[in-house]
Amino acid sequence: MPIKLTPLPRSRSFVGRLVCVAVALTFSGLAFSGPAKLTVQADKPGLKIDPIFYGLMTEEINYSYDGGLYGELIRNRIFQDRPIVPRGPRPTATNPPAGQPGATPVPAAPAAPPPAEPTPPANPAVAKNPHLINWWLVTSDGAAGEIDIDTTDPVNKTALKNSLRLDIRSVNAGQRVGVANDGYWGIPVRPNTTYRASFYARASREFKGPLTVSIEGLDGQIYVSGRVGKLTPAWKKYTLKLKTRQVRSTAEARFVLSASSPGSVWFCLVSLFPPTYKNRENGNRIDIMEKLAAMKPSFLRFPGGNYLEGRDFESRFNWIATIGPLEERPGHMSPWNYRSSDGVGLLEFLNWCEDLDMEPIVGVYAGLHLDQGRTTITGEALKPFVQEALEEIEYITGDKSTKWGALRAKHGHPAPFKLRYVEIGNEDFLNNGKESYAGRFSMFYDAIKAKYPNIQVISSLRSWDHYDHTRPPDLLDDHFYVSLPTALSNAHYYDKYDRSAEQIFVGEWATNNPRGGPTGHMAFALGDAAWLTGLERNADVIVMNAYAPLFCNVNPGGMQWSINLIGYDALGSFGSPAYWVQQMFSNNRGDVVLTSKLDPLPTLTAEQLPKATVTPGGRPGGPGARPPTVPPGPFDAVYATASRENASGDIILKLVNIQGAAQTLQIGIEGVAKIAKEAKGEVLSAELDGMNSVAEPAKVAPKPVRVTNAGTSFTHDLPAYSVTVLRLKTR
Ligand code: AHR
Repeated sequence: MPIKLTPLPRSRSFVGRLVCVAVALTFSGLAFSGPAKLTVQADKPGLKIDPIFYGLMTEEINYSYDGGLYGELIRNRIFQDRPIVPRGPRPTATNPPAGQPGATPVPAAPAAPPPAEPTPPANPAVAKNPHLINWWLVTSDGAAGEIDIDTTDPVNKTALKNSLRLDIRSVNAGQRVGVANDGYWGIPVRPNTTYRASFYARASREFKGPLTVSIEGLDGQIYVSGRVGKLTPAWKKYTLKLKTRQVRSTAEARFVLSASSPGSVWFCLVSLFPPTYKNRENGNRIDIMEKLAAMKPSFLRFPGGNYLEGRDFESRFNWIATIGPLEERPGHMSPWNYRSSDGVGLLEFLNWCEDLDMEPIVGVYAGLHLDQGRTTITGEALKPFVQEALEEIEYITGDKSTKWGALRAKHGHPAPFKLRYVEIGNEDFLNNGKESYAGRFSMFYDAIKAKYPNIQVISSLRSWDHYDHTRPPDLLDDHFYVSLPTALSNAHYYDKYDRSAEQIFVGEWATNNPRGGPTGHMAFALGDAAWLTGLERNADVIVMNAYAPLFCNVNPGGMQWSINLIGYDALGSFGSPAYWVQQMFSNNRGDVVLTSKLDPLPTLTAEQLPKATVTPGGRPGGPGARPPTVPPGPFDAVYATASRENASGDIILKLVNIQGAAQTLQIGIEGVAKIAKEAKGEVLSAELDGMNSVAEPAKVAPKPVRVTNAGTSFTHDLPAYSVTVLRLKTR
């Protein structure tokens, strides 16, 4: 049970307070080493914090785009998907990645049995043809029909090779036969909402139409419907708007194409979009984009992650196959065991950057796959892919006079995008990538620097690999997936970093052990916040950083990687406590770090550390999980960083208390003429297992803080298990 410390009278001396609090804590049974004092040097020139410091990392994992950010509601719209066959963890999945600081591998704990997941009703159509996954035959009582996949006479022979054939055998007046799509765990129905449906269709001569297009409840209720009057024997694209009335919101719904005339109808590229963020065609879901916008991220690292590499050559992110009209995008199998529609392709990633004012950090395919190095492409054979990377950069940055810039303009974006950073591959320290990385990296580095000398080239090897690149990377990409104790201890990891070595992009990090469900709890968020204070304090070394993974569809079967920043189902979304930490830190950025010192600094032994439980909602452990390891203590009980925002003159304090009791902090700001008495901020505080969900999206969320006693010397109580951001006014 956390104890609440009552603030002591202001007149009492600091030493007096120290004695009193120590006595209180001794009697409470909690072994604190006493109150903490934070001294900030406001007049010492600080380290510059790069304006790009906070950003996002993303890839297609956990139904991040399909069934997530991407607005498309129809699953398996071009009939290329198949039922998902669980393939176990990725060949190289380790958590944390092998050899990561502070994470000594220990034998895996015996896995607990997975929680029972509802078994969906078997679809007889899928037994006939696996490409009918998510499509159902719909027949009125007494009517008869069949569905199948047809490969003859396709819309095109590249991407739209398969079509769905609906044979309406017998149907009387008032009856119907049709086909239904159940979407990504349901089609979300909202009141007064305009949906845009589109599909290619052709019909046999005997089919007389019309075709009814509807969104229906699983209970048969029609939420909205429209009609297409006449189909022809030739393929034609049909588009219609469906506007719901004052219906109730539900995801217990499906999309239905049906008719009451005998004959055959073929369909392909069946699509249904709700309103999208900034009304972009082929755009993104509004609620999730708004959550990202609220984080004010500065960059987007894409397209992965393992999604860049693929399990093999075919499943790599082949950017060229992801651009242009959807009719030309076949999609591809992702390393995360499901097929990607590639509806979010290279240009959509860039549009996403534009919508949120983020810089793209583009990972280019570099010949490595997730197969222990069996098919790594090197030397002469890699040259075409170096060329592809140059073309990708030209597609992003070239003007209309260039071949690839002109293509981008044709695809709807005449203005070039700004690109400062390109990363060569992903996690090339795995899959025996190190053996060939020096050669592969040099090829990309030389080609990119020759054509684009201002682009910064990032190596996917980590600082602790101490790898001889033969060409000097502009940045190294360090990844950390850690337990709470390791996150706390790693808050000091870069304090000891060799300042003459390369600067760092922490391209993936999270406190995520012991892993369980889709999103984390307050205990993990405390680890994240403590770790971030360390990154900010080392802003001379750390250029930018991103939490990973970003997204997870929380429906059963939606998660491939446990502990993600933002969760959602078809209708709703929520930020985890870690999301709020990100938002608090990113929204309160300083331009320079101010030297700060905690002295006295309360400490905790390993035994006294807060214990992070396995988060519910998934397989305990999850893919690639290892039991957390505990670095030797003592651990700081309080973490702090101070910075100054030049425009406002504000001094920003970020304070993390990982103890189950409030911590009185004596704060001294030196080298500044005045600090206004009134200060504002936010505090996130909850029990260690406090979590958010679609049903309770803001159970753990920051609350405003108003300080009325601020000054060059003042006390402030940090609540138990809390993250606080304070903005002190110097003007
Ligand atoms: O973030 C999940 C995975 O972790 C990424 O795909 C990969 O880069 C890392 O191993």
